[in-house]
Parts: sequence; structure tokens; C-alpha cells
Amino acid sequence: MPPSPLSPRERESLLAAARQALQRAYARYSNFHVGAAVLTEQGETFLGCNVENASYGLTICAERSAIFTAVQNAKAPKLVIRAVAVVNGDDVPCSPCGACRQVIFEFGENAIVIFRGQQGYKEMAIADLLPESFRLS
Ligand code: THU
Repeated sequence: MPPSPLSPRERESLLAAARQALQRAYARYSNFHVGAAVLTEQGETFLGCNVENASYGLTICAERSAIFTAVQNAKAPKLVIRAVAVVNGDDVPCSPCGACRQVIFEFGENAIVIFRGQQGYKEMAIADLLPESFRLS
């Protein structure tokens, strides 16, 4: 199934939610603040920010933080992600890392990802961001 496109209003409100999440970023080591918002198929929105740690490898990205919050709080028993928006405090190009792509795919094979590219915000299907994604059948 191809991703169902977001309306301009949906896209703007998801980006606004990601900007809200950005305010809570805990990024005292990299100083790179990231916010993310997940839109579910049911129309719920969940927020996440990056949370760093003195033991650097324990850091979690904003996208996974938002998705794990959605897993725990979505009303529907089965989470299906429709879209993920990600923003950063420096307003520089920033697409989700490989680990986050795999986690997005886990909950949304048809998800749309909105992120800052070289020429402003762009939308891509997760299937294009993560070809040959891994799934246990
Ligand atoms: N980061 C995210 O939260 N999401 C991304 O898409 C890229 C990177 C965070 C992880 C770390 O806290 C900081 O940005 C620098 O890598």
C-alpha cells in the first residue's frame, strides 16, 4: 500500500508538534536539540525529544522517544504510524538515523517521514528511506 499523503494542514500541525517537543530536548553533550512528532492512523499525535547521557551510547533519538511513547499510550491496541515529523534547533538538514528508520518501519510500513532536507522540509516514504528493511515474519 502506498503512503497516504498528508494534507498541508496535517503536515503543518505535525511539524508544530515536533517543534513543541524540541523544547524538551536534553542535549547537553552535543547541544543538537531534536524534536519529533508521530501521527498514528487513528489521528493521535505523540511527541519525543532526544535524551542524551554522560555515557554517550545511551542517548536516544527524538524519533524513537516519540515512537516508544506512542507504543505505550496509543488508544488503539496496535500502533500504526502514518507519519513522523522531525525538527532540530539548528534548522539544518537532518534525516532520521538508520536505527530510527528501522523502528519507524516496525510500526509503519507505509509511514511518511517529514524532515529538513538540503532545500527545506521534505517528505519521503519510509520504504524509500530504508530499502530492504528487516522484519521477522
Ligand atoms: N538525533 C536525533 O534525536 N534524531 C536524529 O534524527 C539525528 C540525531 C540526536 C541524537 C543526539 O542526541 C544528537 O542528535 C546528536 O547526534
